[in-house]
Amino acid sequence: MTTQQRLVETLKNHGALPPEWQDTVASVDRALFIPSVIEEGDFAIAPESWLQAVYSDAPVVTQVNDGESTPEGAFRLFTSSSSMPSIMLEMLGLLDVREGQRILEIGTGTGYNAAWLSHRLGESNVTSVEVDASVLSTATENLKRAGFHPTTILGDGRDGHHRGAPYDRIICTCTMRDVPRAWLEQCPNGRIVTPWGSSFFSGSYATLEVADGKAQGSFSGYPAFMWDRTQRAGAGRIADLYHQEEGERSSTDIAPQNLIQDDPAFFTGLSVTDAWYRWRDSDDDSGEATLWFFSDNRKSWATVEYAPDAETYEVEQYGPRALWNEVRTAFLGWHELGKPERSRFGLSVDGDGQRVWLDEPHNVVGHK
Ligand SMILES: C[S@@+](CC[C@H](N)C(=O)[O-])C[C@H]1O[C@@H](n2cnc3c(N)ncnc32)[C@H](O)[C@@H]1O
Repeated sequence: MTTQQRLVETLKNHGALPPEWQDTVASVDRALFIPSVIEEGDFAIAPESWLQAVYSDAPVVTQVNDGESTPEGAFRLFTSSSSMPSIMLEMLGLLDVREGQRILEIGTGTGYNAAWLSHRLGESNVTSVEVDASVLSTATENLKRAGFHPTTILGDGRDGHHRGAPYDRIICTCTMRDVPRAWLEQCPNGRIVTPWGSSFFSGSYATLEVADGKAQGSFSGYPAFMWDRTQRAGAGRIADLYHQEEGERSSTDIAPQNLIQDDPAFFTGLSVTDAWYRWRDSDDDSGEATLWFFSDNRKSWATVEYAPDAETYEVEQYGPRALWNEVRTAFLGWHELGKPERSRFGLSVDGDGQRVWLDEPHNVVGHK
């Protein structure tokens, strides 16, 4: 079965389709929002795999490198997609959408989520902002073909869309480093859900209740969204980022895999905001691996060499930033706090900016 009903059944079987969204998911055909040529394959060559991709609970990448022509072999950064349907539903669940509400979506992408919102809430209650003109134009066409005419706006979603305010809900479908002030102004009493984080750890939803223009909330989930285009994290292939020069060498007794577990990585990302990591297994059967750290500006890197049964691990760091020292300090700080889980942290946002706290809003552990 390669129809919308197959997607409905898959989502139901995974317990990912709440009753209030069933009619919408069954009624809006995802195929109307997916281009004939997708990153996984080409409809003209393999129609079955196209249908398979469209009606699976999987993301479908629809643009790489901002739509610019990419020479063969060059790094391909995914820059627009139709998100994984179960993740869309998870976010909409966090958003707690109710009939009659006015919604602002950031990141129109294919238009599929805007179509779901239009079906459930009525198109006049839905505004969606997209930063990429060609993505927006295709999405608006897709929406029309599906019979929906929400307000679609070309612009930086960080500015929201003042003319449609106030909104009851803001849903952002790209990852943010912070919650823009414009969102609090335009949704002064309501709820905001956005993928949130730093280059080091971007895999959290922030779900914020807004009252009188001040927001407070918590972190959850494991979203893997594309970055807000205006705040991207570093990315690339190790071979392109590694400076072939000797770094400063040392060793550590911290097993590198412990550094990148979700809870410590979340905490490290509060202070080591503009650096990221990649775990790379060795090509042989040794079980060895290298944990790489890179600064977003590509000027600094560090490595920790993992070997099974080792008690200490070799470290090397290169460049103006001592990335290993930064990560180690954050990790030890997390230990000193008693290794708190991410669920114990919260986020407050107001006119003074955003603050991350542990257990209580006055116990601030990170600013931005
Ligand atoms: C994962 S896709 C969105 C999926 C979309 N909601 C859907 O249903 O197909 C992320 C989108 O966010 C857009 N985007 C990135 N930064 C943005 C920004 N600052 N303002 C508005 N849109 C942005 C990207 O161009 C991309 O199309």
